[in-house]
Amino acid sequence: MEKRNQAAKLIIGAVVVIIAVLFLVGIVSRHDITYKSAPLSREDISYRQVEAPKATSADGTITASDWSAIYPDIVVSWGKNADNEEVVDYLELDPYLVEIYEGYGFAKDYGSARGHNYTLTDVAKTKRPHGMANCLTCKTPNFTKLVNDEGDGVYSRPFDEVYAQITGNNAETVSCYTCHGNNPGNGTQPMENLEVTHGYIKLALGDNITSIDPGILACGQCHIEYYFDPETKATRMPHGSVDAMTPEATYDYFAAIGFSDWTQESTGAKMLKVQHPEMETVLLGKHAGVLNCADCHMPVVQNADTQNIYHSHTLMSPLKNKTLLESCLVCHKDLGVSNTDEMIAFVRNIQNRITAEETRVGNLLMEFKKALAAANQSGAWTSEQLDPIRELYRKAQWFFDFCYVENSEGAHNSALSTRCLETAESLINEGMQLLAALGE
Ligand code: HEC
Ligand code: HEC
Ligand code: HEC
Ligand code: HEC
Repeated sequence: MEKRNQAAKLIIGAVVVIIAVLFLVGIVSRHDITYKSAPLSREDISYRQVEAPKATSADGTITASDWSAIYPDIVVSWGKNADNEEVVDYLELDPYLVEIYEGYGFAKDYGSARGHNYTLTDVAKTKRPHGMANCLTCKTPNFTKLVNDEGDGVYSRPFDEVYAQITGNNAETVSCYTCHGNNPGNGTQPMENLEVTHGYIKLALGDNITSIDPGILACGQCHIEYYFDPETKATRMPHGSVDAMTPEATYDYFAAIGFSDWTQESTGAKMLKVQHPEMETVLLGKHAGVLNCADCHMPVVQNADTQNIYHSHTLMSPLKNKTLLESCLVCHKDLGVSNTDEMIAFVRNIQNRITAEETRVGNLLMEFKKALAAANQSGAWTSEQLDPIRELYRKAQWFFDFCYVENSEGAHNSALSTRCLETAESLINEGMQLLAALGE
């Protein structure tokens, strides 16, 4: 009896141990499962070589609808950029801009950017004057194709004529051809199918182009600082390497070629307008060499029905997308952020700090501009006296603008944003002192 009881106890003990072990294994394997459901990455995508469909467009660009049978998920996600339709009126938000941009189109009409689907409607209805077709550079692959087929002469043709020609042929807004040429299907590994179709990027960077991640170049075709060549009116990029992408080096480049976007009547200053230097701030920032634009703006997602894994082509703020936010935590957990809410707060804090500084310095710049305009309009001073102050004003506006017009509000590179605002402020102070010395 005793022995039987002992054997029973042993069996029960063994069963308990086995259950405990199974339970632990269960936890471990459950942990494994959670680990696997952490964000998907491009390593999970099956890249395939496919035959390009026949182009149905008049100019030979293979359109999104041509690709839709082969890449239905990507084409649907690309169409969803239309949901990003909100526009903020910057001139209402920051009235000092109307003073600073006086005499230039942006003083009349300056709204925030929105989804890619609106590029053609927005460029057609802007109150900013656009005499030439070069305004279409960043709006549609059909303009890119026209330049690629017919050469730089297209840039200086009348806007209305080229716009009518393109839209008459069912132009697309930013689409497959822009970032992939006619080859979205010809890739067996990540980024192999990306192609720079905007010629001025290849022209400016030359061999240095290979040092930049193709997933950055794809977006940098438009999200950069550029200018129109004073003689040919062709779109040009002012820097030939990543080192030359700083606001300081770019300013020096424009100074060396004697370039200005407009002469401001009230101050007599020859002004520069910065565009949207996102490629520059990212390449000079803390994620450079580690992440490309797609990593933070194009989540890798899975179609629940077909299990197809792909890059969503709906370009979105990483702060509004759970998949992207979770991908940040892969590194930011080690940098003191523990969950997605804290990740949002971390970025918003940076943006709030930069925006507050921007408003303060923007208002100082407006005061400087008004004082310079008064000195200029008084007629009491010679150009030898005013030109050095005009130069300080032109330069202060450049550095301020480099921060203001960059769309991430400091999230891409807060140190660079801060440096721009500090430089602008010290140039403003210097200029105000010179004006004071004149007695203005
Ligand atoms: C052919 C030029 C072009 C290319 C290439 C391009 N963009 Fe854009 N992008 C634009 C324009 C123009 C707008 C503004 C559209 C408007 O407001 O009408 C814009 C707007 C955006 C917006 C919306 C901004 C907002 O404030 O709502 C995001 C996000 C964006 N782009 C990200 C990207 C990313 C990421 C890439 C690369 C994968 C990319 N873009 C490639 C031209 C381009
Ligand atoms: C604004 C630029 C841009 C446009 C427009 C664009 N793509 Fe992409 N595409 C990308 C980027 C960036 C990647 C991801 C590269 C990487 O791995 O980082 C990508 C990836 C892909 C891939 C590889 C598979 C995958 O999911 O990563 C395919 C296929 C593709 N795109 C097809 C298309 C098609 C079809 C269209 C038109 C509906 C299109 N793309 C429009 C930039 C673009
Ligand atoms: C490390 C992640 C990261 C990388 C890499 C990155 N971005 Fe961003 N980007 C952000 C964050 C964060 C914001 C701020 C979003 C917000 O305010 O909601 C932002 C904002 C933007 C905006 C304004 C969008 C909006 O909705 O207001 C544009 C346009 C943009 N990025 C383009 C780019 C381009 C082009 C590249 C590549 C050259 C790039 N980004 C690379 C994180 C990134
Ligand atoms: C591969 C690792 C990695 C990933 C993934 C990553 N980051 Fe970072 N991030 C860093 C590092 C490293 C820093 C620099 C930290 C420092 O200097 O204190 C940084 C800094 C930042 C900064 C401050 C930048 C500045 O100039 O002040 C922001 C904002 C940021 N990350 C946003 C994001 C967002 C949003 C995502 C996800 C969409 C993301 N990061 C994903 C590594 C990463």
